[in-house]
Amino acid sequence: MSCLSLDFNNLKTFISEKDLEAIYPKVFSCHEMLENGQGLGSDFLGWKKPGLSKAVLAEINEVAKSVRELCQVFIVIGIGGSYIGSQAGITFLKPSFLNQLYKEGLPEIYFCGQNISSDYHSDLLDLVEKYDVCLNVISKSGTTTEPAIAFRLFKKLIEKKYGVDGAKDRIVVTTNSNKGTLNTLAKEQGYQKFIIPDDVGGRFSVLSPVGLLPMAVAGIDIGKLLAGACKGEELYSQPSLVENNAYHYAAYRYLLYQKGLITEILASFQPSLHHFAEWWKQLVGESEGKNQKGIFPASVEFTTDLHSLGQWIQEGKRNIFETFLLIKNSNRELKIPASQNDSDGLNYLAGKTLDHVNKKAYEATALAHKEGGVPNLSITIKDRSPESLGQLFYFFEKAVVMTSYLNDVNPFDQPGVELYKKNMFKLLNKPGN
Ligand code: PA5
Repeated sequence: MSCLSLDFNNLKTFISEKDLEAIYPKVFSCHEMLENGQGLGSDFLGWKKPGLSKAVLAEINEVAKSVRELCQVFIVIGIGGSYIGSQAGITFLKPSFLNQLYKEGLPEIYFCGQNISSDYHSDLLDLVEKYDVCLNVISKSGTTTEPAIAFRLFKKLIEKKYGVDGAKDRIVVTTNSNKGTLNTLAKEQGYQKFIIPDDVGGRFSVLSPVGLLPMAVAGIDIGKLLAGACKGEELYSQPSLVENNAYHYAAYRYLLYQKGLITEILASFQPSLHHFAEWWKQLVGESEGKNQKGIFPASVEFTTDLHSLGQWIQEGKRNIFETFLLIKNSNRELKIPASQNDSDGLNYLAGKTLDHVNKKAYEATALAHKEGGVPNLSITIKDRSPESLGQLFYFFEKAVVMTSYLNDVNPFDQPGVELYKKNMFKLLNKPGN
């Protein structure tokens, strides 16, 4: 059974069945390229087969358990694909305000090295000083500047607290099998190390040790997460649009883009999807935006943003489409209480759940935006379970690769991020630049 259901009805007046039929041969040939490993970037297809050996899965769970026992604060250091997937998973699967729940046996979890902010890192150093700390530094290349700076800062703090020997039990490195500074350090210092497979690129690495270790530390059942992704692999394996929702969605995106709708807004009604939207933007942005092509990925959180960007979406320039990401079943039901004198005029909602009101807000928004000329579709996730999340990660990975192939771009490289680095290194007088 699929954990995701898609509704394309609000696209029908913008994209016809004929348009979809016409694109099918191209979808089919992209599917063949992907399956036969003949498409652009085919050295990076490791994500297509989710799953880990039993030994690696057990090792991740074991290290996560010992981290939970050793520390009150767990720091995840990484940038881009090296942190954003685990943050998405933790926010989606765990209760809100997770860092206040240490009393339930979980460490507080903080992310850093995803920026070079002095204030952010100083504040975090101050915050964790008085706690027991462990960290996981994640970098596939092992040479990225932002996480390297953060690692130096927090390694120093850990060594000061526990000595160089004590630090060995508290630092876990996730990197490639044999290259880069992090590998050298891990070997020299004897840190626990997990390997990112060569054929899995950063933004496709959430289901590798990159995403799985931090999620396991947060108490997430990563076996179930992987099972959900394997289900996704099975569900999204067919070439036909009717049988494969990932391709159906990709085909619609491509057709909308061809009609000049160059921005896709991922709209949710749940804060638990906040970081998932960040993961999705990174996946789409770095995979599709090249060769002067690609959908610009944006995100909003409703109903919050209906009192902000909602105005733009309703009446601004008509070059956008919207993908609603919904959760069918919340973890917790909350009813609006009745009030005797109804002084706030809300008794018409007494006894109704917040979910009911939120759902009506979604229906009202989808209709208003469609009437305002914004084609929209919805993806409904059954629940906030690891199985559903695993399937959702896989769904978007497959869809984004298909859209990239339809646009004739390589989804697995990111040549455009090199120029800022080159300029920055020059300005910083980095040796050899
Ligand atoms: O998706 C990608 O490949 C990038 O966003 C990388 O994840 C990011 O640049 C970090 O790279 P690294 O893991 O090598 O430090």
